[in-house]
This record gives sequence, C-alpha cells and structure tokens, in this order.
Amino acid sequence: MGDSVRGGFAGLTGFDRPVRAVVIGAGGGIGSAVTRLLLADPGVAEVLAFARRRLESAPKLQTGILDLADEGTIAVAAEAAGTVDLVFVATGLLHGDGIQPEKSWRSLDPQAMATLFQVNAIGPALVAKHLLPRLPRRGRSVFAAISAKVGSIGDNRLGGWYGYRAAKAALNQIVRTASIELARTRPDALCVALHPGTVDTDLSKPFQAGVADGRLFPPEVSAAHLLTVLNGLTPADSGGLFAWNGERLPY
Ligand SMILES: NC(=O)c1ccc[n+]([C@@H]2O[C@H](COP(=O)([O-])OP(=O)(O)OC[C@H]3O[C@@H](n4cnc5c(N)ncnc54)[C@H](OP(=O)(O)O)[C@@H]3O)[C@@H](O)[C@H]2O)c1
Repeated sequence: MGDSVRGGFAGLTGFDRPVRAVVIGAGGGIGSAVTRLLLADPGVAEVLAFARRRLESAPKLQTGILDLADEGTIAVAAEAAGTVDLVFVATGLLHGDGIQPEKSWRSLDPQAMATLFQVNAIGPALVAKHLLPRLPRRGRSVFAAISAKVGSIGDNRLGGWYGYRAAKAALNQIVRTASIELARTRPDALCVALHPGTVDTDLSKPFQAGVADGRLFPPEVSAAHLLTVLNGLTPADSGGLFAWNGERLPY
C-alpha cells in the first residue's frame, strides 16, 4: 500500500509487542479504512474485523459477525478475540430506517431516539464491557470509539440533531467512566473517544452540501488521522474526546 493510500499513517507506535487489533464496524466507511491501514502495518500481527455482515478474510485478517443490538454476538466476538491490544469501535448511526436528524423538538420520536442510543451509546458500552477485560494488564493498550464533535455539549452552538448529539454525548460519558475503571487494573491503557472530521461515507452523504472545500475527508485520510492521533496519546489522556487533528474537544 502506497503512502498516499495510507494517508501518511506510518504505523502504530508505543506497543511493546506485535499488535492484535479488533475493529468493530469494519464494514463501514471509516471502519473499513482503519482495517486496511492496520492490515498494511507491519507492527500489527492480526486484525479481527467484526461487522453485521460477514466480510472476506485475508492474510492477517479474521472476520466475524457482530450486531450491537445483540449482546450475545458481542460476547462471542470477545471470546473469539482472546487478548487484544487495540479495540477500535467504528460503528455509528445518524439516519436510515425512518430515522432523520431532528431539526426541532417537534420531530422527536421515542423509537428513533432509542435506536440512536442503542447504536451510538449502548452498543459501544457493551463492546467495552466485553472487550476491556481482554486488554493486557501491563504495556500499552488502546480502546478507541468514534464519537462526533456534535456530541460535545460545550461545543453545541447550532442545536438540532437531538438524538444523535445526545447519544454521542452519552458515549463520551461512557468512555470517560470506563477510562477511570480501566486505569485501576490497566494503568498503561488508553480509553478515548474520537471525532473523525467530516468524512465521505454513507453516514454523511445527505449532509455534505455545506462542507467547506478540503474539509470532506476520504475515509482513508480520516482513518490515518485517527490512528496517528492515537499514537500521540498517553494514558494521561485517557477519558478524553479527541478530534482528527489531535485537538482535545470539550465534553
Ligand atoms: N462520516 C462523518 O462525517 C462522521 C462525522 C462524525 C462522526 N462520525 C462517526 O464515525 C463513525 C463511523 O461512521 P462512518 O462515517 O464510517 O459511517 P458508515 O459508513 O455508515 O459506518 C457506520 C457503521 O456502523 C455500523 N452499524 C450500524 N448499526 C450497527 C449495529 N447495530 N451493529 C453493528 N454495526 C452497526 C454500520 O453497519 P452496516 O454497514 O451493517 O449498516 C456501518 O458499518 C460513526 O460513529 C459516526 O457517528 C462520522
């Protein structure tokens, strides 16, 4: 894979052994790009890629089925994974199946909100429940979940998108809370939420019109940014929400 395809990502750093990585949501735009970058990294020994539909396996790549709405599939995935050094959660939901981001409180719909919370907050929390115990007790390990800047309460100046915003804010709180518990048994671990920028994927397709030139990242570029950001973080950063450019965002 050439450097332009790798988006400038030069490989994971800081691990003291070949990395076993798990990607959840590996069929999505950003999740598949992260998976490709990890597979091309000589420091990564194995990638376990989970999605709702079975992906093709390849050298270094094991695949499995996982639905965030079915905790049993998460438990089975964790069992299959064994000890892992990096968990990257790239799932998320903004629209689809009758769900549209709400412009006003008039559009609030309990079922849509429940689904947004299920996918964006509860599902990743269950991934943490089953996979954080799989991180090694000593040495660098990373749990990263893609959140969104719009989940930042302090940064909310535009309003709208109630369900998605609130679910991502809940995810940020879950990551923060898990980071505190994780540090008690795994002091070298990092547990963070990430904002990928605006990325050209199915999730952002209907909302790309107003995006400034050069600010709509190809998935490969966003994935490279996110893995590079992780390289620069230490356990002291655990619990934070970090943007694609390394900026720490307010909760
Ligand atoms: N794209 C952006 O501009 C942008 C901006 C800010 C934040 N984000 C966040 O970035 C993350 C990745 O999104 P993306 O842009 O790569 O969008 P995407 O291509 O739509 O990927 C989202 C993935 O989530 C998976 N998913 C949804 N519900 C699931 C469930 N119940 N169980 C398991 N997987 C499920 C989807 O699986 P299926 O393929 O099976 O539906 C899909 O693979 C999300 O957390 C999103 O909120 C994206």
